[in-house]
Amino acid sequence: MRSTLAATAAAPAALAASNTAVQQGQRPIVISSGNGLPATTRAMEVMAGGGDVMDAVIEGVNIVERDPDDHSVGYGGLPNEDGVVELDSSVMYGPTHRAGAVASLQGVKTPSRVAQMVMNRTDHVLLVGEGARRFAKAHGFKIEELLTDDARREWLKWKETHSDRDDRLAPTHDGQAAGDPSYLFTYGTINCNALDQNGNLAGVTTTSGLSYKIPGRVGDSPLIGCGLYVDNEVGAAGSTGRGEAVIINNGSFSVVEHMRQGMEPQAACLAVLQRIVDHNKLARLQKEDGRPDFNVSFYAINKAGQYGAASVWSGMEFAVSDDRGHRKEKGAYLFKRKQRENQE
Ligand code: GLY
Repeated sequence: MRSTLAATAAAPAALAASNTAVQQGQRPIVISSGNGLPATTRAMEVMAGGGDVMDAVIEGVNIVERDPDDHSVGYGGLPNEDGVVELDSSVMYGPTHRAGAVASLQGVKTPSRVAQMVMNRTDHVLLVGEGARRFAKAHGFKIEELLTDDARREWLKWKETHSDRDDRLAPTHDGQAAGDPSYLFTYGTINCNALDQNGNLAGVTTTSGLSYKIPGRVGDSPLIGCGLYVDNEVGAAGSTGRGEAVIINNGSFSVVEHMRQGMEPQAACLAVLQRIVDHNKLARLQKEDGRPDFNVSFYAINKAGQYGAASVWSGMEFAVSDDRGHRKEKGAYLFKRKQRENQE
């Protein structure tokens, strides 16, 4: 059974794109960002086999973390400005209200598993950098080179074209100016949240973060309440997109709090996106019309099995797996993107 949300003052825009499903009872459901269909599919399989909801979402995102062709997450992720891949991840488990996270972790393909280890085997929530790497190594994680040839080539293109203040030159042909100087750039991330048949919730967010970032830059993904938040009595939410905007608005916590006040997931996502827009005061982060020049997306699921996702800008799709199958759905949005504008 599906229902379309009524417009509310807090979520005024783009409700025509509503896709919140109303599902009473405790039917398992998994949602994820657009790159997460393999993750939601796998997570459903794990839960169907009796696996725990936390293990399910982590096993799901591990597929994407290990995929060298996803340049926004794990192995194959785009590196920092020095050409080093630094990963951020967090997990949160509803039944215990515990969380674990790692930031600026180098050398481990599956940072979400290290985050889970932080949750299960320490009294801490967040380990960073060299400490996180040594912790992972002590727990038997393989330390490997995460920079693939593809990602290295993209990084090199960026180095050769991003600045006129150093001595690097982009390749030229017959003395002509360099060809297309475009390079791959992403804030891309995977977030995955699930509700199991017992009504328990869990979530995970994992990313290589902003491409070509200043070494040590940490985004929203490993920060509990920002890139991920789970309250087993209310719901779970996570984010992708410009982490800095999510951090200064405590994005995922705010989405869950809006659901606690009675908003359905999609409306809660839109309300927090509107707050991000309202707080975006810097001209350098605005288009000419004052709207944000970046994107943020939220994905949310509540205790009743309702779910929704929304972005600042149109065009976002998210992954859903439930008893109706595995599919992508269109997210709601605040502003319609002009054709040919980039996604993130
Ligand atoms: N949302 C991912 C990041 O900003 O690092």
